[in-house]
Amino acid sequence: MKKRNKILLGLLAVAVFIQLIPVPKTNPPVTGEIAAPPEVKAVLRKSCYDCHSNETAWPWYSRIAPGSWLLYRDVTQGRRTMNFSAWQQMPQDRQNRRRKGVWDEVASGDMPLWFYKPLHPASKVTDEDKAILKAWSDAGPAVPKGKTGG
Ligand code: HEC
Repeated sequence: MKKRNKILLGLLAVAVFIQLIPVPKTNPPVTGEIAAPPEVKAVLRKSCYDCHSNETAWPWYSRIAPGSWLLYRDVTQGRRTMNFSAWQQMPQDRQNRRRKGVWDEVASGDMPLWFYKPLHPASKVTDEDKAILKAWSDAGPAVPKGKTGG
């Protein structure tokens, strides 16, 4: 066999083998759904829920390694950082900070994560959506400057 073919065959074997490593893709129960006006929720649902809720729509490439690993990592980290399905379980001051943080992240263009956008064109945060999120965030209780995260 030519050397190049051997390498290709090796790569193929690896690609098949890594599929055997299981990745749990779960949607745990919703325990404390965020209470926000319907138009706010609609934007969050459309653009953020895949990583920040227990209602993730796992896409087809979430079934194929190594894409599945990357997705699993993002959803796990996203949920751990802020979970709209368990929002009510956060202490009130944290909810207040997160409410500002949501707008901060969208205003700066940091969220949704950059690679998510081209894969989910329908999740685009439009100017109208931004206005909705900003108004909601501004209407929340004031939080100390620089404390919009955590
Ligand atoms: C593709 C997955 C994904 C999507 C979609 C997504 N996020 Fe995130 N988000 C993450 C991950 C992972 C983190 C934690 C790591 C980080 O900060 O980059 C995070 C962190 C955050 C944080 C905390 C930042 C901090 O520094 O404390 C906020 C707030 C946030 N996201 C808001 C949003 C909002 C609002 C949307 C929708 C407009 C959104 N995210 C969409 C994955 C995502």
